[in-house]
Amino acid sequence: TGCAAGVMSVRGDLDGTTLFVRKSDALALENAGGVLKVWSSGLDAPIVVRRTASQELVALSVLCTHKGCHVTPLPESFECPCHGSKFNEDGSVAQGPATRPLRRFAVRETPVSIIMEVAP
Ligand code: FES
Repeated sequence: TGCAAGVMSVRGDLDGTTLFVRKSDALALENAGGVLKVWSSGLDAPIVVRRTASQELVALSVLCTHKGCHVTPLPESFECPCHGSKFNEDGSVAQGPATRPLRRFAVRETPVSIIMEVAP
């Protein structure tokens, strides 16, 4: 685990197109507002997982849909450092120049794991 820009980062285990993170490695997601960056060598970019105020997990690619910079997670949104696009916490565009939402991955949780489907 490491820490970049205040967001915890953890390596997930990729099995085919399913990405697993142990909850013991994902303590940042225990509470609403928590954010965790998950990466694996099989991914083209890290995934940001957030637990929203309604306790829902949302998993989004960090790749900005404008030109591919990595967006920065903010408390309830994302911001792109390159040209200023802003995205809501569900990945939808809040401010251009980006016009398409961040890529969203299906995510579910079990008592021990957070599991994402990352098929291309
Ligand atoms: Fe994100 Fe241009 S790459 S706004």
